[in-house]
Amino acid sequence: MSQFDLVKDKLLEAPKTWLITGVAGFIGSNLLETLLGLDQKVIGLDNFATGHQHNLDEVKKLVTDYQWENFTFIEGDIRDYSACEQALQNVDYVLHQAALGSVPRSIADPITTNSANVTGFLNMLQAAKEAGVKSFTYAASSSTYGDHPALPKVEENIGNPLSPYAVTKYVNELYANVFSRTYGFKTIGLRYFNVFGKRQDPDGAYAAVIPKWTASMIKGEDVFINGDGETSRDFCFIENTVQMNILAATAPDDAKDNIYNVAVGDRTTLNELYYSIQSALNQNGVSNKNQPIYRDFRAGDVRHSQADISKARKALGYQPEYTIASGIDLAMPWYIKFISN
Ligand SMILES: NC(=O)c1ccc[n+]([C@@H]2O[C@H](COP(=O)([O-])OP(=O)(O)OC[C@H]3O[C@@H](n4cnc5c(N)ncnc54)[C@H](O)[C@@H]3O)[C@@H](O)[C@H]2O)c1
Repeated sequence: MSQFDLVKDKLLEAPKTWLITGVAGFIGSNLLETLLGLDQKVIGLDNFATGHQHNLDEVKKLVTDYQWENFTFIEGDIRDYSACEQALQNVDYVLHQAALGSVPRSIADPITTNSANVTGFLNMLQAAKEAGVKSFTYAASSSTYGDHPALPKVEENIGNPLSPYAVTKYVNELYANVFSRTYGFKTIGLRYFNVFGKRQDPDGAYAAVIPKWTASMIKGEDVFINGDGETSRDFCFIENTVQMNILAATAPDDAKDNIYNVAVGDRTTLNELYYSIQSALNQNGVSNKNQPIYRDFRAGDVRHSQADISKARKALGYQPEYTIASGIDLAMPWYIKFISN
């Protein structure tokens, strides 16, 4: 039996109360779906900056009425300390996902990204410490590896950040570490590597590559590759990320005050990604034979990214269950339905 199965059994036996910040977003709503499915009580906080009511509505349809009654939604902003305090009442485990993602967004508007990602993070950290929660797990980012050239990426070796977004995510790690040293409040930071899956927003200027390309291919629109297409990433299906959050939240104390990579440990180029999305769509009845259009590299992007996931395997019992290929196969039908609605 895997560690994840053991933890799920324990949670079913003795349900806990969770706070998910950013619950109306991509990762937050997937965490919500899994936790409600495990009969947990969940409080969700979101200000709809980039999240959507339709993500919550979809989760409601995927769980039972009884499970949905275990969910309390608070519309609020993590930049408002009292909203954080309110959301943290009687909470056991915190999964802090709320932030403004996207490297280009942070380059266009570093001030707003900083306020959500640094001030908002610090508010949540302080309020969670004061509330005496059992654990605090937060979304860190592989962008923290910055210009460090080594592959695969090992948690201890980071370079200089390449964007304001990367700075904010690194500052989160610094604050988390200082809270452990200063107050004994031990947290876990999860450095996500390009998460993808259902409910990841395909719209807007700052959409991530998989939803953006998928939507464009379904609509028959041009798809642009920034650079020569040999840029690579360790794309991680959402269910692997959900597993890591649940393992981290319930981890023993000696696994805390730590950062873990969340990925598969594989590397896919943008050229490979393009053709695997196209082929999965074709298999799902969407005919698309277009070629990509190449344009300039994008500022702030790292060239290659691939994680070493041995630390999470050893300390948390993490076993990614999905590859990029199986994840894309699962995600495509959702996008086809979403785009056609
Ligand atoms: N998706 C990825 O590949 C990836 C990679 C690395 C890190 N991350 C991190 O994971 C987390 C979740 O990302 P996602 O992909 O689900 O993005 P998302 O934009 O879908 O979700 C973020 C959610 O946070 C909410 N939010 C933003 N600012 C807020 C504020 N001030 N107060 C309350 N809520 C606020 C948004 O409305 C949204 O619902 C973020 O912290 C992001 O930086 C994501």
